[in-house]
Parts: sequence; C-alpha cells; structure tokens
Amino acid sequence: MAVQPPAAALEYHELTKHSPASVRATTHRLDFADQPRPFKIYPDLDPIPLPDPAGDTKHPAPAAVTEQLADGTRPLDAGELARLLTLAAGIRRVFRGPGGGPIYLRSYACAGALYPNEVYLACTDVDGIPPGLYHYSPIEDALRQLRSGDPRPYLVRAAGGRNSVASAPACIILSGIMWRTAWKYRARGYRHLWWDSGMILANLLALSAGGSHHCEAVAGFDDEELNLLLGVDGRTEMGLCLAPVGFTSGAPAAQSATAAPKAINHTSLRISHFSRHYEEALQAHADTSLSGSQEVRLWQRDPPSRPAPPAPICPVGIEKVIRRRGSKRVFEPDRSAMSLEQFRGILDHATHHLACDWGEQLTRVGAIVHSVEGLEPGAYRYAGGLELIEQGEMRDKAKFLCLEQALGGDGAATLFLLADLDEAAGSLGRRSYRAAQLNAGILGGRLYLCAYSCRLGATGLTFYDDEVRRFFSTTAEPMLVIAMGR
Ligand SMILES: Cc1cc2nc3c(=O)[nH]c(=O)nc-3n(C[C@H](O)[C@H](O)[C@H](O)COP(=O)(O)O)c2cc1C
Repeated sequence: MAVQPPAAALEYHELTKHSPASVRATTHRLDFADQPRPFKIYPDLDPIPLPDPAGDTKHPAPAAVTEQLADGTRPLDAGELARLLTLAAGIRRVFRGPGGGPIYLRSYACAGALYPNEVYLACTDVDGIPPGLYHYSPIEDALRQLRSGDPRPYLVRAAGGRNSVASAPACIILSGIMWRTAWKYRARGYRHLWWDSGMILANLLALSAGGSHHCEAVAGFDDEELNLLLGVDGRTEMGLCLAPVGFTSGAPAAQSATAAPKAINHTSLRISHFSRHYEEALQAHADTSLSGSQEVRLWQRDPPSRPAPPAPICPVGIEKVIRRRGSKRVFEPDRSAMSLEQFRGILDHATHHLACDWGEQLTRVGAIVHSVEGLEPGAYRYAGGLELIEQGEMRDKAKFLCLEQALGGDGAATLFLLADLDEAAGSLGRRSYRAAQLNAGILGGRLYLCAYSCRLGATGLTFYDDEVRRFFSTTAEPMLVIAMGR
C-alpha cells in the first residue's frame, strides 16, 4: 500500500504557525469568567480512592529516562499503579491563577498550565483493582469505574494485536479535551494535546522503568474503537495514545475481541458554557486517523534494538526528580553555566532509545549554546555528538526565536526539537504527524527530567516556526523548545 502524506495535518501545521506578524495581529482575549474546568467530572459515579502509592524506587532518573529497568521485579499491584498515576499525572501544588481561581499544577509541564489531557486506566490483572476501565481523577487521587470486566480484548482489537498491549496487565490511556487549551491557544492548541501527552509519557516511561516494568508509547490504534471504549465522541474529547505497562515476553496474551465494545454514556459535567471546535484541527485529526486492524498493523514498527546506555550522570531518584520539577520562570541573573559533561549527558540520555510503536525517534535537536563551560557559544546540531554550525553569542536571537520571551535567551542553552515532517510521512504515512508531535513532547519531558536530576532548571517554550527553520537552515519543522540553565 502506498504511504500517504498527512495533507490536512500539514496544512493545519502551516495555518497554525506563529510569526512576529501573526502574534502582533492577534486580538484574542481570554474569558476568565468561563475558563474551561481543568478536571473531567462524572457526577453519577462514585470515586474509588487509590491506595497509598508504593514507596519510591529511587532508581536514578537519567537511567530511568533511557528505560534501563531497575533490578528486581516489583509486583504491578494497586499501590504500584498509584505510584505511576500520581507521579506521572497527579497534582504537585496549588496556587491562585491570573483569573483568581486555583491552578492545580501537575507533576508534568503543560503549556499554559491548562491540562487538556485526561487519564484512563484499563486493568486486566492487577492485585487490588478489579478488571475494568477506569477514569483517573488527579484532584482526588481516585478512580471511577466506567466499565466492568476485562477491557483488554477491546484494546488489543483497537491496537491491531500489538504484543505490548496484548500481554500487559494494565494500560494507561491518554485522551485530549481540546477546548481546555484552545480557549487560550485556539487552533494551535491541537499541537499542545500531543506535547502535553508527551510530558506525561516521559514521566510514565521513566517511572515504569524505575519499577522494573516494561512500558511502551503506542500511537497506533483504530480511533473510532478507542473512542468508543472510552465513551468519548472523538471531537470534544479524543483518544490520543496508549501506554501498556508491565508486559513481559511469554506472559499470557489476550485475544482480540471479535466485535467493537458496546457504547457507554456516563454523564460528565460541561467544562464551560461556551466552547468552540476548530475545524482545521479536527480535520488534521481525522486525516491522521486509522481504521481497522489492517491499517493499524501497517502503521506499527518493531522497536529498534536497544543501544548501549550512555555513561551515567546525576543519579537522583526518579520520584525525587519529578517532585522537584517545576518550570523555571527565571534563570539565575549571573547566567552561570552548566558543565559540558552535564550538557552532553542530558542530551545523550534524553535522545536515547525510545520504546514506541513508530520505531525510531523522529526528533532531532538544534541547540543555541549560551553558557556551557568548555563549549563555544553558538548554534549547534546534535546527533549523537555536537556539531558547531555557527559560533557567536546569540542570546538575543534565541530570545527572539522563542516568541521574544526572555526565558528563551537567559539560560545556559536553548534546545530546539525539530522533526522533518515530509521524511516522517514518507516512512510512516498519515499517522506520522501525530507521532512527530508526541515524540517531541516525550523528548521535551525527558529533557526536563534529566535537567532537574542535574540540579538545573528547564522550561518548555513556544516559538516562531519559520524563523527557527530558517535559523537552522533546515527543512525540519520546530516542534517544541526547551530552555535550560541554573
Ligand atoms: C509544551 C510546552 C510549552 C510551553 N511554553 C511556554 C512558553 O512559551 N512560555 C513559558 O513561560 N512557559 C511555557 N511552558 C511552561 C508552562 O507554562 C508550565 O509547564 C506550566 O505553567 C506548568 O508549570 P510547571 O511546569 O511548573 O508545573 C511550556 C510548557 C510546555 C510543556
């Protein structure tokens, strides 16, 4: 079958680019009186409190980021799932936001702290949680049962028989409610669904490795069937990705269901009075949808063989690092450097092997180095090693590229995560657009974890798309920016 480019998604991408002119022309105002509710609430379902999370694994964060499993097998029971859920996607702290209401900051970074993702848990064989499909409420650290009985055959069916899904006792599923982020970012908010999902997945993959559980990012599934399973309409809320946890070769694998699941229709509260759909984003989503197990199987790639891990750096436990993380709002005024060893180590770990169903990492890194001891300031390309493109002090340029935000030029280095969308489409077809965005989000999340493990700070940043492309003289598109420093 010929590989098709994601035409509508690429058009969407063009339409939602930021430029100095587009940012200056915007007249968009935020309606704080009707800001979308950041939590999905099922008023008719009783909460099932999660037990206390299992104790910290203290597995070094950089090793966990590269998915080097901790020694010793932990049982995947209710306490262990509580550790995964609360640390991957739970609440970290609360503060009063610009609209006057509380903002519940989560364990993962999220553009604008708008938290468009919802988290679901499909359980087959977990001590302490009966088989079923659950919604995770981060504000209560509780589950609500949406379906009883083993949901795995339906997931196996939706995921084209993917072995990681078929042999996992539990699977975490992320969805996106676009209006929560489109309220501020409008159509560009669709990109955020993937970036923010990637931030959660980076935590989840690393926490799973800490607990010695295999985990994989799965972006290929039959969209309609997954939405049906979750009980979401595919427009207001859509299934985005799966993360089967705890699969082992030789474990009993579930058969695929012979039919799609029956519809469920639990009432959930409206998230705001006014809401709007952005048709160009919905078109991009429809354009990148898969239907039927044959199409899903054609999408799937085997995970590449795992290369040797990079030399260890900054061995702080993964749980401690996630609790410590929080996007830096200012970098130290003396602009003190990070060491070259740290910089290289962070890049080597974050870009290392990724367990995913799209095969190889799709993201490359372009860097503007401001203050790394032992490295000339300037623009670099990173591909397993650092290659100087242009030498010179470029703080102002980096700040400009990051939508003229000071954070873009104040740190020790600014990292531009790039993906060649045409190349990705050439090998992966229409679904490649989603994978490219999600991959960038995971890499961004890994960069956060490695930086905080090394006692540095980091923040995600947005950018002027074509200005970044021109700066790096590349056909690859910028997907996300991470600035880091002290
Ligand atoms: C994809 C992404 C893009 C972001 N873009 C910006 C940005 O342009 N400017 C900024 O100041 N912070 C940005 N952030 C940081 C968020 O504002 C921050 O993650 C959010 O407020 C939650 O706070 P926390 O990271 O401290 O938990 C971004 C974060 C992510 C994940």
